[in-house]
Amino acid sequence: MSGYTPQLMEIIKNVEATRAARLEKARRGEHFPALTMDERKEWLRKYHPDYKSDGRRAVNVGPNKGAVLPEEVSTVLESRSRLNPASIDLSKADYTTDLLVIGAGGAGAAAALVAQEAGLDVLMSTKLRHGDSNTVMAEGGIQGADQEGDSPYYHYLDVIGGGHFSNQPDLVAALTNDAPVIIHWLERLGMMFDKHPDGRMMVRHGGGTSRKRMHSAGDMTGAEIMRVLKDEVRNRPDKIKVLEFAPAVELILDSNGRAGGAVLYNLETKEYYVVHAKAVVIATGGFGRLHIQGFPTTNHYGATADGVVMAYRAGVKLVDMDSTQYHPTGAIYPEQNVGLLITEKVRGLGAQILNTAGEQFCFPLEPRDVESACIIRECLDIGIGKGVVTPTGRYGVWLDSPMIDALHGEGTVRKELPAKYIQFKRYDIDISKLPMLIYPTLHYQNGGIGINERSETTIPGLYSAGEVTGGVHGRNRLMGNSLLDVLVFGRRAGLYAAEYAKSAKPSAKLTLGHVDAFNRELDAAGIKDAVVAPLLLPNYAPDHVRARQWG
Ligand code: FUM
Repeated sequence: MSGYTPQLMEIIKNVEATRAARLEKARRGEHFPALTMDERKEWLRKYHPDYKSDGRRAVNVGPNKGAVLPEEVSTVLESRSRLNPASIDLSKADYTTDLLVIGAGGAGAAAALVAQEAGLDVLMSTKLRHGDSNTVMAEGGIQGADQEGDSPYYHYLDVIGGGHFSNQPDLVAALTNDAPVIIHWLERLGMMFDKHPDGRMMVRHGGGTSRKRMHSAGDMTGAEIMRVLKDEVRNRPDKIKVLEFAPAVELILDSNGRAGGAVLYNLETKEYYVVHAKAVVIATGGFGRLHIQGFPTTNHYGATADGVVMAYRAGVKLVDMDSTQYHPTGAIYPEQNVGLLITEKVRGLGAQILNTAGEQFCFPLEPRDVESACIIRECLDIGIGKGVVTPTGRYGVWLDSPMIDALHGEGTVRKELPAKYIQFKRYDIDISKLPMLIYPTLHYQNGGIGINERSETTIPGLYSAGEVTGGVHGRNRLMGNSLLDVLVFGRRAGLYAAEYAKSAKPSAKLTLGHVDAFNRELDAAGIKDAVVAPLLLPNYAPDHVRARQWG
């Protein structure tokens, strides 16, 4: 028995019919040719969602006023505060700390640990539970040039090339130079990396990598990283305090324009807390739950662009906010799995991408934006139209996972991809025997808060790290550089925030004046029906249910 319908089982026969020949070629080291640079450009322009003009509009207020961004992003940037600044007494603190870290995923945890080691008292606030984040959901691996024949220099070239030369070079240099240190740090913290029997790290290719430098822990690399980071934070309870279900809703500045803390919102009691801090790190993650262009997402439930909204209202300019990463292989069947990440490691292990006729149509490890464009082209270009249609009318193509056991030996899928195996087995699909149906899914916020290589924003005392920031990956991130980014820039944020906090003069008068000023800008722009943000949680209730709930 299989979870596929009889009609889909019939189409899978096309995949099975071409498999033996494809395997033979793969064993000889032959692969489908990669696109030329000109073809890449053309495919991106014609088929990648970032290049479509519909679904975009200029943002009418704030530091990026006039920039054309996805509709969903412009709307959330033109939002109103949850707070009436006049009703918040900033003179009394519910919490006073050296460093406030907003967000408790990988970047927040790394910042907190390093700042604490440098001597600061740290308060970490998080919207959901400690560790609920995109870090914990990351699957395939973390890059780091720590193997013979590789170097940060090659890693740097790959990152810059993958980002189409739109990255900030100083940030890429920081990312790639720190990478070997990060891998070593994780190992010291007790991370269980995949290794060869002789103890050497097992490393693989990802899309757009010139060397094998993807370190992994099965297909749960992010969960394993978060396990050790969270343990470490929790082991220092007298120095790092963690507040769960307490998202920040507004930054507090001082009258000299420096960061002075934040207002938090207790999701359970609905109280507001005032936090006074010498320095603040924003590490709130990405915006997948905005569902740009209507795409499903791999992101966790809290990925609603909160940090970007708060920083923007406080006057921080954003970079590359018009650029979104669609991961090429999101599940598209069964319906319960739609949007779920199918790690690039599946293709790294040899699985090929095939159309409804069982034919290959692209090199499986193109950079992500190009790979996604190829898949969309195969499904939606009227002259091609070789996508598979699911029973609910979604388009997809096959990811031929049974090739993995055929290439590497029976049991490899279950050993290397245990999470994926279980996530499909629940629906009676054994991915070591049957291919998966996939289509691009919204995976990553390429742009965000502008930072420098010290993780500093343009506001003194305000630092930022991880997916909420922009510039590191330019307009396209390569696999395995996100887990790296959160740790490199999280640690740098902790380090430089500590340096700043130790020498910072006491805050001048604290203020939410920037919120009042932003409200006046909204009024002047004639924006009357602004949403209230940070959104905090996505609202999936249909209109009639929402009307019932809130009158
Ligand atoms: O495909 C993946 O495993 C995703 C990794 C990443 O986004 O870095």
